[in-house]
Amino acid sequence: MSDPVTYECQQGIALITVSNPPVNALSQAVREGLHTCIARFDRDDNARIAVLIGDGRLFLGGADIAEFGLPTLAPSLPDVINRVEACDKPVVAAIHGAALGGGLEVAMGAHYRVACKGTQLGMPEVKLGLIPGATGTQRLPRLVGVPTALTMITSGQSVLSDDALRTGLIDKVVSNADMAKAGVEFAHEILNGDFSDSHTQDSLIRRTSERASPTTTEQEMGEWRTKLTISAKGEVAALKALEAVQLSTHLDFKKGVQQERRLFNELMDTPQRAGLIHAFFAERKVAGLPELAGVHPLPVSTIGVVGGGTMGAGIATSALLSGFHVTLIERNDEALQKARETIAGNLAGAVKRGKLTASKRDTIMTTQLVTQTDYRSLAEADLIIEAVFESMEVKRNVFEALDAIAKPTAILASNTSYLDIDEIAAFTNRPESVLGLHFFSPAHIMKLLEVVVAKQTRPELVATAFALAKRLGKTAVKAGVCDGFIGNRILTHYRSAADHMVLDGASPYQIDKALTAYGFAMGPYAVSDLAGLDIGFATRERRAPLSHPRERHPIFADDLYNLGRLGQKTGSGYYLYPKGSRRGIEDPAVEAIVVQARVEAGITPRLFSDEEIVRRYMAAMINEAARVVEEGIATRPLDVDVVLLYGYGFPRWRGGPMHTADDIGLAKVLKDIELFAEQDDFFWQPAPLLQRLVAEGRGFSSINPR
Ligand code: NAI
Repeated sequence: MSDPVTYECQQGIALITVSNPPVNALSQAVREGLHTCIARFDRDDNARIAVLIGDGRLFLGGADIAEFGLPTLAPSLPDVINRVEACDKPVVAAIHGAALGGGLEVAMGAHYRVACKGTQLGMPEVKLGLIPGATGTQRLPRLVGVPTALTMITSGQSVLSDDALRTGLIDKVVSNADMAKAGVEFAHEILNGDFSDSHTQDSLIRRTSERASPTTTEQEMGEWRTKLTISAKGEVAALKALEAVQLSTHLDFKKGVQQERRLFNELMDTPQRAGLIHAFFAERKVAGLPELAGVHPLPVSTIGVVGGGTMGAGIATSALLSGFHVTLIERNDEALQKARETIAGNLAGAVKRGKLTASKRDTIMTTQLVTQTDYRSLAEADLIIEAVFESMEVKRNVFEALDAIAKPTAILASNTSYLDIDEIAAFTNRPESVLGLHFFSPAHIMKLLEVVVAKQTRPELVATAFALAKRLGKTAVKAGVCDGFIGNRILTHYRSAADHMVLDGASPYQIDKALTAYGFAMGPYAVSDLAGLDIGFATRERRAPLSHPRERHPIFADDLYNLGRLGQKTGSGYYLYPKGSRRGIEDPAVEAIVVQARVEAGITPRLFSDEEIVRRYMAAMINEAARVVEEGIATRPLDVDVVLLYGYGFPRWRGGPMHTADDIGLAKVLKDIELFAEQDDFFWQPAPLLQRLVAEGRGFSSINPR
């Protein structure tokens, strides 16, 4: 293998180039190469200044995640960075593409930083349950001050070059993307004395570690702590980052770095870090389906959407924002007008969030979007996504109409939440061209896309769906056909476990609180209010003919529905939403309805601890997830994790339900299920896969690809 770091000196300027595709990760070989080249530069009497660049699409990536959890091989990254800074001749980091995590820490060890316009600079470690561990928490606040450093480190979000220049993180922005050239030009400016700032006085050497400690106040730190405690929802890394940055304000650099290492090592050992790393890898592995190897996606440029309600308008918005041409079909002009207004509102939201300019929004509305009542306008669409009412009869009419007008190469997709895609495909004479594309609400924001593969779906369609998801900025997961696919099927089950607890004595509010304290974005009853209680009611009605006599019915949910308490949209559901508020308040009337439901069902209520609530909820989720994997509805346990993380508000730092199950121990989960079965052996039937894994002493992770 060729050297990942090379050294070359011309006319007094040493060019040190890192080349470790694909992202120039700071592996042991790179660290060693950097160390050697910097030492060579120091010794090279011909070299007056060094320019450090990355080969390929970015400057330097972060640490090599493949080395995580293994003993650190010398030289360590902090040692390399300190060696760079210790040079007696100036070192310039010439950055393009991105400098993230360890990459930015190296750049901060250099004496000068120049970046190409549009470069991203950031410290994403908290997203992996860590803090910057190679001097970043001590150098960044010295360069940019405490508030900016904390914003960057605790959010993990990167900033663009212009912002980085404004805050002092870098010294110059150039438009030239050839960083060897731009770096050398900047090096000449430095040597000629054409570049100077308040930190370059007598010498050309400016060491970040020698800058004065940044300042802060008790009040500022207190405000940050309060803010982060609320937003972290049990996640510890951001609070540790706060602690580390605070240390930079009162410890000298060396002591600060020692403390940073201590905090970093503490985090390295936490289950949260393991959960976040699992989530990170699961997201990358989820598209790696062996059956798609060598299968090429079909071209898609025009997308048809049938139905412009909540989902249709959201899907159209998502496609428009990604540059597709969209033709949207509704039943009549009034519904079309409403759909246009919803899309315009969604785009206005994107403008407000800074994702889109106002003029681009106007162009999208006038040039990319066509709304029509006539299905024939879909004749040229490459992909048509149906998002009409959740009724097989309505879907039949739509798919028969689409079959009559769509071009032979068109892909026909349904956004159904639960219905049988094989049955829908059979409404057409081209079942091989039909699949499910299950978006989540709000479709222009939620990242998950379940790609539901029916019996006859051609592999090219699946490849196209994965390519589409990428263009839409979403994460696709392959699912098989069953009632609710991966996510909604598992949801139905754990949701029932919650309803059973309400019937048996827990209040919906206690359940929501216990689960949000566990880390879920929302509790199940707040979710019902958001989605609308009519959705759950319609699902129960649809399933009623198939329902088993031993299934327990959530009478209280029907009662609320019958009272017109449909959730946020009617101002009341499980919670009250006075004056259009989106924050629900508890309502004693609901407690009374629940009490009445228990009386009707002849149940004597008992107390539930928060711990038992979580145990039951998780056991139900894991048990059904095991069935979903065993039946091949989800390809691997990691697919379930990605679905729950991206579509159902599962706490990312817990890694997903299958990872959590391994963490708890499958034997313990099975024991819980057997215990709960003593009261209800119909609902709590252990999944055979779970039993088998326990018998073999294995975890779900043993089924995941390595
Ligand atoms: P919605 O009731 O908001 O919208 C349905 C729209 O379809 C209405 O605007 C209606 O006028 C239109 N429509 C009905 N028949 C039509 C026809 N023959 N031709 C053209 N337009 C027609 O319903 P929503 O919530 O958007 O759901 C649509 C589909 O998406 C359903 O299958 C649902 O299960 C699924 N879904 C819903 C999610 C949600 O959170 N609301 C999430 C994921 C999937």
